[in-house]
Amino acid sequence: MSTDAFPTRRGRMEYVCTQCGARRGVEELLYTCPECGGVFLLEDLDFESMKETPAPVWRELFDARRATRNTALRGIFRFYELMAPVLEQEDIVYLGEGDTPIIEASPALRDALGVRFAFKNEGQNPSASFKDRGMAGAFSYLRALVRMHGWDEVLTICASTGDTSAAAALYASYVGGGIRSVVLLPHGKVTPQQLSQPLGSGALVLEIPGVFDDCMKVVEYLAEHYRVALLNSKNSWRILGQESYAYECAQWYGWDLAGKSLFVPVGNAGNITAIMSGLLKMHSLGIIEKLPRLFGVQSHHADPVWRYYSRPEAERRYEPVKVQASVAQAAMIGNPVSFPRVKKLVARYTAAGGDFNMVQVTEQAIMDAMIIANRHGHIACTQGGECLAGLLRARELGLIDKSDFSILDATAHALKFSGFQNMYMEDSFPPEFGVKARPELVCAPRLLLSPERRAMLDETAFTAEAAGELARAAGLKSR
Ligand code: F0G
Repeated sequence: MSTDAFPTRRGRMEYVCTQCGARRGVEELLYTCPECGGVFLLEDLDFESMKETPAPVWRELFDARRATRNTALRGIFRFYELMAPVLEQEDIVYLGEGDTPIIEASPALRDALGVRFAFKNEGQNPSASFKDRGMAGAFSYLRALVRMHGWDEVLTICASTGDTSAAAALYASYVGGGIRSVVLLPHGKVTPQQLSQPLGSGALVLEIPGVFDDCMKVVEYLAEHYRVALLNSKNSWRILGQESYAYECAQWYGWDLAGKSLFVPVGNAGNITAIMSGLLKMHSLGIIEKLPRLFGVQSHHADPVWRYYSRPEAERRYEPVKVQASVAQAAMIGNPVSFPRVKKLVARYTAAGGDFNMVQVTEQAIMDAMIIANRHGHIACTQGGECLAGLLRARELGLIDKSDFSILDATAHALKFSGFQNMYMEDSFPPEFGVKARPELVCAPRLLLSPERRAMLDETAFTAEAAGELARAAGLKSR
């Protein structure tokens, strides 16, 4: 089969409620179950029939598709059959998302930390975070809806800690055609870089005092009472798109994840849901033979999922937490919307022989980990730092062995979180973060000449003096 041909097999997708099991058709965009209010997952009723195709054939198809010239299959939809096999080629939105590289820890970093690992650089997505995977899924479905219903206007809305809004605004502005984007942000709790993204895309950017959890309540209310398309991960089409992360991890390692561990930062818990779901699908089709170990990581300032799983099974009780200031601000969420999905999938994951863990890390450990990683040529955001801190914590707890290999989700680009890096370099964290700079990790700019001094020198003298100062600062020897 030509790898340029768009797949012809179509599945039959349905929303399935994670709480009461109710099922609904996908002609409508639904977020929560009309019966019980539970969150949905999407299921292909014909998934079982995919088992008639042997696993090596699936692997070969996805591998061959890496060379496709069909734009609709270049990004996350390389794995079309595993995600949303109801979409038509004309509806697929592609902005270059997915296919992000997995970069092994620099040898010096690996040796310094005594663990073997790699970062999957999700910051190399178009809006510089993994959210683009989900948006490619959600917007492709939205385009299908718009086409089917002949709508001439759709208002999309999301609450966000900064990255969902950046991605939603980007895709909405690209797709256009009556699709407009509104984003609701917690005032002062997204970074200036993240805030600049929906502004640059021309979205309607609204803010409220409070934290992400407050914004989420407002957009949920809105979605119940008004005609809007919700783009938070309550929207299960986003979860499908984000499964591509798991498919890419497997493909990168030749469809063999045995003996590997995946570390994922957990905020609203959409990402870990998607990754588990993707791993389970591949496992059930035999595309991967063994499930990797899975570690969710949370900061001690926003750790409801860790709290739940840290108790013995019989005593587990889910309680939202009130978040405190976190450098992993994008994951600073006290009441994750996808928690019921996680619970459901963890049960399936462990039943299928997988190992699921949650680890909790300190704010200090997150910052130190991010800084030390990036000093070794990586581009991890604070949430990527959180994953590395989680790996170190897991090793401390004896959950990870020296010989194990871990894939850490660097969920966004370091540049989105440069403000936290600056605070570290200036050792100026407000006390609520509880982070102090380790002097050996600090790097700060130095002015070689004052403007007054520069004004006193002609061009020749300036060049010589600046070069002399530079040589002194860098410890250069003259020739
Ligand atoms: N890392 C980054 C960079 C994020 O933006 C988020 C979530 C997470 C990790 C946590 O992922 O929510 O799927 O568990 N950001 C959302 C947002 C909440 O609005 O951008 P999750």
